[in-house]
Amino acid sequence: MDIVVIPFDTADAAGKVAAERAYEIQAVSRAAEQPDMPPSSRQRFFGALKHPWPGDEERHALAYLDGVPVGHLALTLPQVENRDNAQVTLTVHPEHRRRGVGRALYEYAVRSLRELGRKRMISETASMDPAAGRIAPGDAFATAMGAHPALADVRRRLDLTTLDEPELDRLLTAGLTHAEGYSIVRWHGRIPDEYAEDVAYLDSRLIEDAPIGDLTWEAAKPDVGRLRAMEAALDARGLRWYNCGARHDATGRLVAWTALGLTEDCDWHAFQQITLVEPRHRGHRLGIIVKIENLRYARTHEPALRVIDTYNAAVNEYMISINERLGFRAVAGLNSWQATI
Ligand SMILES: CC(C)(COP(=O)(O)OP(=O)(O)OC[C@H]1O[C@@H](n2cnc3c(N)ncnc32)[C@H](O)[C@@H]1OP(=O)(O)O)[C@@H](O)C(=O)NCCC(=O)NCCS
Repeated sequence: MDIVVIPFDTADAAGKVAAERAYEIQAVSRAAEQPDMPPSSRQRFFGALKHPWPGDEERHALAYLDGVPVGHLALTLPQVENRDNAQVTLTVHPEHRRRGVGRALYEYAVRSLRELGRKRMISETASMDPAAGRIAPGDAFATAMGAHPALADVRRRLDLTTLDEPELDRLLTAGLTHAEGYSIVRWHGRIPDEYAEDVAYLDSRLIEDAPIGDLTWEAAKPDVGRLRAMEAALDARGLRWYNCGARHDATGRLVAWTALGLTEDCDWHAFQQITLVEPRHRGHRLGIIVKIENLRYARTHEPALRVIDTYNAAVNEYMISINERLGFRAVAGLNSWQATI
């Protein structure tokens, strides 16, 4: 069996053909690993190739088994913070696994990253139904490669067809009695200029406030310019956003923020993304209030929406307790691995 790994540049013609193969490998792998998730979004995949996250550079390679492309490697190289780190996405077509393709891509990644002066690799693996006791291929592979399990996240799912609306009403009414002096604000898409600075600040706090386990990861610096560049990258991926925040009336500052995102090519599924309350404004139930308000806001614009997924670190008890009260239930795991190279 002959395995070769060949890099490609998405900007040239040959690279575009290679990118199509990479997309097919990702799409079929995702359907195998996460059958309850929407199909891989073409716009999201190709949008990301054209428009990496601000501050990141990307490298790609395909692995060929006897001349057939069966594996894809993406290396993300942060250029601003985290210059010793690289994020690694490594995928092998389910019909061609356990033949050494993953290992060949891994060894290629290690060689490339050493040449680039990076010291650490970070990668994620999805594990379906952790209670079933089956070890996911990604987890088995990462362990075999000697990586360290640095953070365990749990994916929780809210089924909107069985949503307990009276319970949400009760939670919201009770919450609002603790939140005098705050107003709810909502926006869809571009962040209003008046809140951009506060959103950049809240966004930058996420990595400080949410548990990141043993991951060696530096928080990004707050900056409105970067936030706007991020929005352009989200647009390129076809993501649309519903946001809800709490404004502190006395100062006019946005002190809590939550966001729900949907991809262009799927109307039934959304991700509940960031929820953050500025530390000096905690204890007013703002977290649960903005989440409920945003859920209702998104639903008025997205009548087909029926499933929302969210990830939390397994140890993030406070956020998990809010999510469980809203009706989210654990369905799968997501592990982050770190390897020193
Ligand atoms: C993880 C993945 C890339 C492995 O690809 P692969 O081509 O099957 O990997 P290899 O054949 O090179 O396996 C190398 C070693 O990893 C371990 N391994 C890989 N898959 C395994 C599995 N399903 N069960 C147990 N061990 C496994 C074995 O030790 C294997 O060596 P062996 O076959 O000699 O026993 C592939 O399953 C995949 O694409 N999964 C989904 C995406 C993902 O999780 N990526 C991992 C990011 S770290």
